[in-house]
Amino acid sequence: MPALVLLGAQWGDEGKGKATDLLGGSVDYVVRYQGGNNAGHTVVVGDQKYALHLLPSGILSPECTPVIGNGVVVDPSVLLSELSGLNERGVDTSKLLLSGNAHIITPYNVTVDKVTERFLGKRKIGTTGRGIGPTYADKINRVGIRVQDLYDESILTQKVEAALDAKNQILTKLYNRRAIAVNQVVEELLGYAAQIEPYVADTVLVLNQALEDNKVVLFEGGQGTLLDIDHGTYPFVTSSNPTAGGACTGAGVGPTKISRVIGILKAYTTRVGAGPFPTELFDEDGEALRRIGHERGVTTGRDRRCGWFDAVIARYATRVNGLTDFFLTKLDVLTGWEEIPVCVAYEIDGKRVEELPYSQTDFHHAKPVYEMLPGWSEDISKAKTFADLPKNAQDYVKALEEMSGAPISAIGVGPGRDETIEINSFL
Ligand code: GDP
Ligand code: IMO
Ligand code: MG
Repeated sequence: MPALVLLGAQWGDEGKGKATDLLGGSVDYVVRYQGGNNAGHTVVVGDQKYALHLLPSGILSPECTPVIGNGVVVDPSVLLSELSGLNERGVDTSKLLLSGNAHIITPYNVTVDKVTERFLGKRKIGTTGRGIGPTYADKINRVGIRVQDLYDESILTQKVEAALDAKNQILTKLYNRRAIAVNQVVEELLGYAAQIEPYVADTVLVLNQALEDNKVVLFEGGQGTLLDIDHGTYPFVTSSNPTAGGACTGAGVGPTKISRVIGILKAYTTRVGAGPFPTELFDEDGEALRRIGHERGVTTGRDRRCGWFDAVIARYATRVNGLTDFFLTKLDVLTGWEEIPVCVAYEIDGKRVEELPYSQTDFHHAKPVYEMLPGWSEDISKAKTFADLPKNAQDYVKALEEMSGAPISAIGVGPGRDETIEINSFL
């Protein structure tokens, strides 16, 4: 069973970093396949806490080779500072492999991201401002800069020229900003080239050879299913495919190689940025979830919007990703509620709807239909087996499993590596 995909089943921040890190010791490669440093993955190892943005969470496991695939967008300055930050803390990062086909987030992409958001005003997406959308737009428009371009100055200059031609018109004439000079960008990018070179590789070849040799490869998604550009709550999404198919295109591995797809699912729901969120709470319960769950963005420091568990979304994630398992996280955060509401369906314009509507208008009108499940008050953070959980917590997990359409194979009861109940082994 060599290839696993691990991805977010909701709107991101489900605990992917912790789940990847947990498996990191038993897998040979951990691969990021989409997104960039918009991600914020927290890993807690003993008394050490790491916040990773661009690097795969497997970088903290010495046995494992971390890979940044072709589908990722890479800000070279972030890459280098994340690497040096880890090196200073004694983490060996020398095994990292970076696809020569990955696209570069240029300084002008970051500028365009920020100005576009400002221009959208109250219709803004609430992006992380890291240049993600404009970089993917350049990729699709075929004016992107790739990692390999850093090693041919003439080609790099031509490509930056081509990209800036239209952008400078827009920046100066539409957004009233100063034009960006080609030579300044080229100089900055060339300045990163030598430091990055040791990591650059043909990652597609490496990964396919590894799979042929029966090595275990874990594909780690950024963001989450509902932030997917095709399957999420468009336009309030990110500009890549965090869903399972993205692992194939973003790493160059065929779908026949993927044997297991694990959806990371928070025991309640959170979202950062704008967009519809049917179970969002604006009361003391929402405040309590935020406080107890420490729901604050790892990348932007924004408070996360919080709400109850939404089974309609979980079922949708099972469907569009072909999930084989769930990893339910943060069950411990729900300790102390007498009753816990769970959204089992929506009411849309007076009708009960069981599945996520494809229509944006309908989704904006969706009101949660709640079922009340009995809560528990016992501390569950030391639970090691399912049987250690109080009966009501067991029933909560079983109910979620039944509603969500795939087995819950692990349960998180705390942020640490060992604060996990394993039910079915992932490997
Ligand atoms: P990611 O983006 O999916 O990797 O998730 P984030 O790191 O942005 O947010 C998840 C947060 O929840 C982090 O602070 C984790 O340390 C924490 N976390 C993960 N699993 C659990 C869990 O089971 N219980 C608790 N209390 N915290 C958890
Ligand atoms: P992890 O990997 C939560 C959200 C932003 C915004 C939208 C578009 O930690 O789960 P972008 O900068 O990507 O163009 O912003 O997507 N977003 C995330 N929300 N977790 C993330 O990553 C996110 N990455 C992007 O808040 O709403
Ligand atoms: Mg996160």
